[in-house]
Amino acid sequence: MYILGMESSCDETSAAVIEMTEDGGRRICSNIIASQIEIHRLYGGVVPEIAGRAHIEAVSRITYEALETAGIALSELGAVAVTSHPGLIGALLVGVNFAKSLAFANGLPLVGVNHVKGHVAAAYLAHAELRPPFTALVVSGGHTSIYRVSDYTDFKEIGATRDDAAGEAFDKIGRVIGLPYPAGAAMDKLATEGKAGSVVLPSPALAGDTLDFSFSGIKTAALNYINGLVQKGEEVPRADLAASYTERIVSAIVAKTEKALRAEDSKALVLAGGVAANSHLRRALEEMCARCGVGLFAPPISLCGDNAAMIAAAGYYEYKKGNLADTSLNASASDEG
Ligand code: KG4
Ligand code: ZN
Repeated sequence: MYILGMESSCDETSAAVIEMTEDGGRRICSNIIASQIEIHRLYGGVVPEIAGRAHIEAVSRITYEALETAGIALSELGAVAVTSHPGLIGALLVGVNFAKSLAFANGLPLVGVNHVKGHVAAAYLAHAELRPPFTALVVSGGHTSIYRVSDYTDFKEIGATRDDAAGEAFDKIGRVIGLPYPAGAAMDKLATEGKAGSVVLPSPALAGDTLDFSFSGIKTAALNYINGLVQKGEEVPRADLAASYTERIVSAIVAKTEKALRAEDSKALVLAGGVAANSHLRRALEEMCARCGVGLFAPPISLCGDNAAMIAAAGYYEYKKGNLADTSLNASASDEG
């Protein structure tokens, strides 16, 4: 079965066609991504109104490009899956309305997809043998959460950030030290050149048995450290700061994930979300999973960020479960939809 996936929750407009078969076959036929990063870079972050407008300009072209690249006609599709929540409301509405019209006009089943479940589904496309149950760690610009995934569509959040997400924490401090938006990948590289632990920062892992995080403290501590040096007219040791900041964030995420794996007696971990591209996080999780005898399923970097193939994959399983939407489907900014 061919599924058209559509994604417009933040700053990438994406459309993809994937093929999923009853016997577990999973194949990406096309995955077109139009990034708005260059536009938002001017402002140092995503401007919601501009994002919505840029999605409108791109959505039709990107969708037809995805179909053409895949060599699939609309009549060959089995379903249309679209990110309906969470995300920027004005951005989500563009994809949802386009997908609704396309599905309605062509008599195709429509599926609304949770963006976070989409990130996790990227791992299905990269690992043919992966099946639930497993534990999932989603680290993105909007989420830092640990889930018990009992079935393809059945997620329970068992740990989460109580304030900012890890990606947001990287972007914020990266911006302050002069890296272009989004700063995550540049912080990753800069951290490789510095000495971890040379700048003292608090841990984002909350104390005790909880699996929750809080990134606001480390963000504020890093800002105070930078401001203190700037006020004294001293230079900020950018690489050492990036290395220390990254090490604190990575070790907190790894510690809580290990705790979750033990509590759940889980033998498989799926890593997902834009921050899953972080080389330091990937290495630390590989080491921890090897030590704990847990299989790590991390998608390639190309499937970590926002893309529509992952939305189509999650949509396939929602479709199989009978979770179909109709023309009343609405977008929602919240996690619950
Ligand atoms: O999943 P994603 O594409 O969008 C959301 O759903 O939020 O994640 C984007 C986030 C941004 O904060 C970006 O800076 C971060 O992922 N990111 C990274 C890396 N590559 C992207 N953070 C740390 N290290 C990276 N290599
Ligand atoms: Zn995302």
